[in-house]
Amino acid sequence: MPTPEHVILRELITHDPDWVSGGDLATKLGVSRVAIWQHMEKLRSAGYVFAAQRARGYRILERPSSPHAASIETQLKVRPRGFSLVVVDETDSTNDEASRQLGAGRPAPFAVIARRQTDGRGRLGRVWHSEANGNLYLSIAFRPRLPPERMGAFTLWMGLNVCELLANFAKVTPGLKWPNDILFDGRKAGGILTEARIDADEIRDLVFGLGLNINSPATGWPTDLGQRAVSLSEITGAPLDFNRLTAALIGRILLAYQKFVDGDYTKTFADLWHTYDILRGREIAVLEGGRRHVGTVAGLDDEGALLLRDSSGRTARYRAGEVTLEKSRSLAP
Ligand code: BTN
Repeated sequence: MPTPEHVILRELITHDPDWVSGGDLATKLGVSRVAIWQHMEKLRSAGYVFAAQRARGYRILERPSSPHAASIETQLKVRPRGFSLVVVDETDSTNDEASRQLGAGRPAPFAVIARRQTDGRGRLGRVWHSEANGNLYLSIAFRPRLPPERMGAFTLWMGLNVCELLANFAKVTPGLKWPNDILFDGRKAGGILTEARIDADEIRDLVFGLGLNINSPATGWPTDLGQRAVSLSEITGAPLDFNRLTAALIGRILLAYQKFVDGDYTKTFADLWHTYDILRGREIAVLEGGRRHVGTVAGLDDEGALLLRDSSGRTARYRAGEVTLEKSRSLAP
């Protein structure tokens, strides 16, 4: 149900950079100009800066740099029936919050975004650095009711869709490092953590978590992270519109999920993999269960497992693990 702030934002964003008259907004909402002024104050406190002139009305000068629910909802172009979004200041982990809300019966799909996480998690039990610094901490919850074996390539498929969205939105060239890293020239800008609860041979709850460095200066992070991490704004050289990008990402993720569930993704998967995979033909090491396996990447199997050819020509498949690139010796595929 759109609130007055949604209606006002939709008008201002649609007409940006032009003016929208206070009188027109008042008529549209059936309220007084004073009421419009009060709604504008609420939007200002969320981070909007407006130009206001008695004769012309309002126009947007600056947009919030941190998550704002009405801004995201107003700019969402894909909205499945029943979809909802919650933005919180702080939570332990948006994946955990989404999982708790699924457990409490909240209708799926829904998205949870936090300005900061106190216990942000990455794969393999790692900490995900989650200050309130202009980066995105997003989880989207689904109830797929699919057999677990259908989910093998899910994280890769979603990562590829995130890469393509970023490439189109920000005119950048991301790469996907199997299984879940979004990189720019070897530096990590994002990661995906997919978690599922399985019930009687079907996936009951699925939480897709995305951490994406959007506007943080990596120089403000702990040194080890600062050297390996990068944010989109460092790549583009200018801050990005956080809420517009977040709305575009959520839309793409919702569409990609639906295609995956419908089984309508294999051809696009192959095309996207060809474009964004950064490991093809590379010599790498996979760390899995405490063992290190070195070989040349030979592709993926149907379930998204990585195929690695060792020096004796044997090919092994890895469903999980941590990949490191061996000293940049690129081998033929
Ligand atoms: C990784 O690269 O290991 C995955 C990182 C995933 C981080 C995101 S941030 C939003 C969601 N909440 C979490 O606690 N983790 C994911």
